[in-house]
This record gives sequence, structure tokens and C-alpha cells, in this order.
Amino acid sequence: DWDADNIIDEQVGRIREQVGDAEVICGLSGGVDSAVAAALVHKAVGDQLTCVFVDHGMLRKGEAEQVRHDFVEATGIKLIEVDASEEFLTALEGVTEPERKRKIIGEKFIRTFEKAQKEVLEEAGARGKEVKFLVQGTLYPDVVESGGGDGAANIKSHHNVGGLPEDVKFELVEPLRNLFKDEVRAIGTKLGLPDNIVWRQPFPGPGLGIRIIGEVTKDRLDLLRDADAIAREEMAKAGLDRDIWQCPVVLLADVHSVGVQGDERTYGSPIVLRPISSDDAMTADWYRLPYDVLATISTRITNECRGINRVVLDCTSKPPATIEWE
Ligand code: XMP
Repeated sequence: DWDADNIIDEQVGRIREQVGDAEVICGLSGGVDSAVAAALVHKAVGDQLTCVFVDHGMLRKGEAEQVRHDFVEATGIKLIEVDASEEFLTALEGVTEPERKRKIIGEKFIRTFEKAQKEVLEEAGARGKEVKFLVQGTLYPDVVESGGGDGAANIKSHHNVGGLPEDVKFELVEPLRNLFKDEVRAIGTKLGLPDNIVWRQPFPGPGLGIRIIGEVTKDRLDLLRDADAIAREEMAKAGLDRDIWQCPVVLLADVHSVGVQGDERTYGSPIVLRPISSDDAMTADWYRLPYDVLATISTRITNECRGINRVVLDCTSKPPATIEWE
């Protein structure tokens, strides 16, 4: 039988055993998984934990504010913010291949954590020591789909799975590695995290970078960020937030089609809506968004996002498609 209290006790014990009195760092993404992982580690080793929120330039609107307010307020965990957007975007210049994007982003994350060490130690009043452990909110499905489970193929490299580059000194702490999302949510609630964190829809660590099909540039990110915010706002307004598992909004940046706006010909890119219904993201169906919600989102995106002249619906289950396009 599955019991949240038991899992928490067991993991707290394990974390204490693994970590001892060393300093621990945890990358927060704003998502449920890293938040719950951090809360568990905080319960286990308290102020030995410092969280780091990396702005990689591929976040959605309001993401940083949410971490700052909701998370820190609820937990009192120490938080350091790093703006690494220039570095990430420079590293991604000219890159279009999905797995390369994922590898580059994953590696950059680790390097950013390494660089943040000094600040973390000062924050912790532990100058001169080193940060030995890195917490990651890896879930069971992430492990399986990155090829780490029993006999599974590598479908895509989740940015936080697959080990660290060889020269990295961090040892991983992954207290959610055997759990599914619904279990993580139950644990988060038990640990006192607020609903707006626990019930947040999943969002991938590599962020909007893997939702731009083609090269990732600042202009494209800004465009997608706006379209995504509109879609999220309208789905929330329609009261569908908890019903929908998540809804990636994808920019087909290298595809162009002809449109007409005012009396003018346009030649713009399409935005794809990918509404998902699922229990664990291992398999999924497309969520039947009501027509009127689709219509409002489509009208608003084409009116408000310059350069987008078409909105299309992805009505494919998983399998055969995956949830994210890359
Ligand atoms: P796919 O696209 O593999 O996605 O069907 C399954 C679930 O995982 C999320 N996802 C990620 N989450 N790091 C994450 O933390 C990643 O690199 C990553 N890639 C995909 C995706 O949003 C979906 O919920």
C-alpha cells in the first residue's frame, strides 16, 4: 500500500544518511518535482540546503516571480537567483537538433550550479567548504524515458537524467526517483506546499527551448512566451487548469504560411496547441478543449502576437507522439 507519510519518513532517513553534514544545492525549476524534492531535503537537513533558481532565458511569463513568492514564502528555504540567459542562448546559437539542445541545456545547468557554489557557501555561512550534493526532482517516468529504466529505449534525454559530465564533483540526491507525479503531489501536500505549486501543470526543465522547432533565439522566445501566456490565461479562465494535464504551446519557427490581416498579406509562423490529458505522462491523450476556448485562444494569439498568422491543434495521443515536440 502506498502511504505518503511512510515515503516521507523513509526518504528523510535516506537523505540524512547520504548527506551527513555536507552542504546541498537544489536547482528549482518552478515546477512541482523540484519543489517537492527541495521540501523533502529541507525537512531532512534544514539549512544545509540552498536552492538555486536559474533563469536560462527560456522560462514562461511570471515563472521567476512564482518561485520567489509562492515557494520561498511557503517553505522559508534559502534561495539564490542566477541570470544565465545570455550564456544559455549563446550556447544554443545555430542548434536545431532536439537531443543536442537538451544536452547543451543540461550541461549548462550543471555548470551554472558549479559557478553558483561560492555564493551558496557564503549564504550558508560555510565558506571554505564545498557543496557536495545536488538535488534533482527526477521522477520514475523521466528515468524510464531517458533510457535508465529496465530495457527502455532512449526516447529523449530529460535534462536532469542520465548522470553528470565526468568532471563534475556533485553527487546526486534524487528522492523522487521511484515515484509518479500523483504520488509526488500527495507528498508535496503532506509537506505543506500550497496548491498553486502542488497542482501546477508540468513544465520541462529545458523550458521553451524545446518548444521552438528550429533555432532558439531571443525574438522567437519572446513571441512564444506571449502566445503561451495567452493560452494559459484562457484555459485558466475557462476553469480547465486541473483537468488539463498540461498544454505545451509550440512555435514552428521555420515553417511559414500565407495569411491576410487587414488588407495585408502576411507570411508568418504557426503556433501549435498541444492540450494533454494524462495520469503519469507515460501515455497520454489529447485533451478535448472546448471549441469556444480554442476559438478565443486562436483569435487572441493571431491578434496579439505579431508574426503568428495561424493556430493549429495537435490531436495526437502518446504514443505515437510524445507530449513535447522535441
Ligand atoms: P514527453 O515529451 O517525453 O514528456 O512525452 C513527458 C513529460 O515530461 C516532461 N518533460 C520534461 N520534464 N525535464 C523535465 O523536467 C525534461 O527534460 C523534460 N522533457 C519532457 C513533459 O513536459 C511531459 O510532462
